[in-house]
Amino acid sequence: MSLWWLLACAGSTPTGPAGDGDDGGRDSDPLVADTGAPDAWAPLGFVAPPDAVDIDPADDVVHVQLRAGGAVHRVEHAGGTLELAGYAYVDRNGAADDREVLAPGPTLRAKLGDTLRVELDNGLDAATTIHWHGLEVPWEMDGVPWKSTTIAPGESFTYEFVLTQAGTFWYHPHVDTERQVDLGLYGVVVVADPSEPAADQDLVVVLDDWTTGRTDDGWDETDASGAHGAHGGEGLWAVNGRVTPTLAAPAGSRLRLRVLDASNTGYLALQADADAGTPLRLLARDQGLLPTVQAPVQERLVPGDRVELEVDLGTAPWSLWDAPYEHHGGAGFGAAARVLTVQPDGDGAAPEPLPLSFPGGAVADDPGQTDALYVFSGDTGTGQWFINGEQFPDVTIESLDPGQDAVIEVRNLSPTAHPFHMHGHRFEVLSENGVPSSARRIEDTLDIGLYGTARLRFNADNEGEWMVHCHLLPHAEGGMMTVLRVGDPL
Ligand code: C2O
Ligand code: CU
Repeated sequence: MSLWWLLACAGSTPTGPAGDGDDGGRDSDPLVADTGAPDAWAPLGFVAPPDAVDIDPADDVVHVQLRAGGAVHRVEHAGGTLELAGYAYVDRNGAADDREVLAPGPTLRAKLGDTLRVELDNGLDAATTIHWHGLEVPWEMDGVPWKSTTIAPGESFTYEFVLTQAGTFWYHPHVDTERQVDLGLYGVVVVADPSEPAADQDLVVVLDDWTTGRTDDGWDETDASGAHGAHGGEGLWAVNGRVTPTLAAPAGSRLRLRVLDASNTGYLALQADADAGTPLRLLARDQGLLPTVQAPVQERLVPGDRVELEVDLGTAPWSLWDAPYEHHGGAGFGAAARVLTVQPDGDGAAPEPLPLSFPGGAVADDPGQTDALYVFSGDTGTGQWFINGEQFPDVTIESLDPGQDAVIEVRNLSPTAHPFHMHGHRFEVLSENGVPSSARRIEDTLDIGLYGTARLRFNADNEGEWMVHCHLLPHAEGGMMTVLRVGDPL
């Protein structure tokens, strides 16, 4: 979500979401309110999105009824209240959701092996879909308009599939994606592995960049160039819709934080208590548990990415910070900014870490061949973005045989990083910039740095026509998207 929308709507009466897109926020004076510096925002308590209500009594079926509709997001601020006419997912069976910002949408919680059934009513003024980011679903459930239909306003669709991966995933539209996600349509899917010990609190932490950068050109230009920072703005990260919130938790408790970057373009360089040099306790990235726990000083999180962090809370507060990092320049100058603080209650000692069974496993060999090559190019000045010199939907479709052990090579010829994302399959990162991975790494979204390369290996075991794209949404919208066919699905 962008603050641009908040600014645009402050002082005017929101009348619901903008019609079809491009005019949103531009008719009113965007500068009627000033957001001030981030520390002018009142300190707020942490709020998590509600868990969606499962209406199926069977133990192995999670059946949820969602509605996508217009919403007014409100943010209390030292200078007043900002109002954003946007979109939100709501649980048709949930209690009234009185959060100020109704994004993220309800969290869908299920366990490995469950069937997830989600009925979506489209109460928007535009066609939509749901894409299940990171989940290997049958391709007719993948929520892309490529050779399947969208859900028209007033219509419904039921998504149904079996969950075969444990971890933290997310859902969002895949039509007019840049605008619909920015307006607030996104939520988290948690697939628990029942053999794992539960944390005292298992919390969804969705980060969205409400940038303070602004231009005279409005939302389109700002996002289409993907260049918030270039216009002099600093990232302003909201955590589940609140800026720098504080979570109160009992000292002596163990927290599992499932962190998602749901922003359109924002990069994070996460660190824990920067001043004290405390490493992050990293349990998982995009695709479930790492081979073993990791303790990086800094972890980059790019649009679409997830990490799971464990916090074993003693009596000292714990904070998550974001160091300056730009997708068009890499690490920047300046101090890290606080994103979230956990404030302990009581005087319990820090507990032992969760006894998780990390899976181990060595990095796969690089078999040497390249089955598909994706060359990313383009530039921020023109807003034109290409894969193999082509722009979606005028693309050449690469094909793989079902069950093929395949290697993809991605080369980035542009001075801008791009989060590479592929639908329908997770992949193992064999190497980045020619350097083999030092630990087994399974992802669905991988940042390809400036002029960087990566080699990715996966088994093409899911037949379909799968989108392959950059997860900087203005880049995807600007053409940086293609299709990979596995088998003969039609
Ligand atoms: Cu998160 Cu093709 O998308
Ligand atoms: Cu990109």
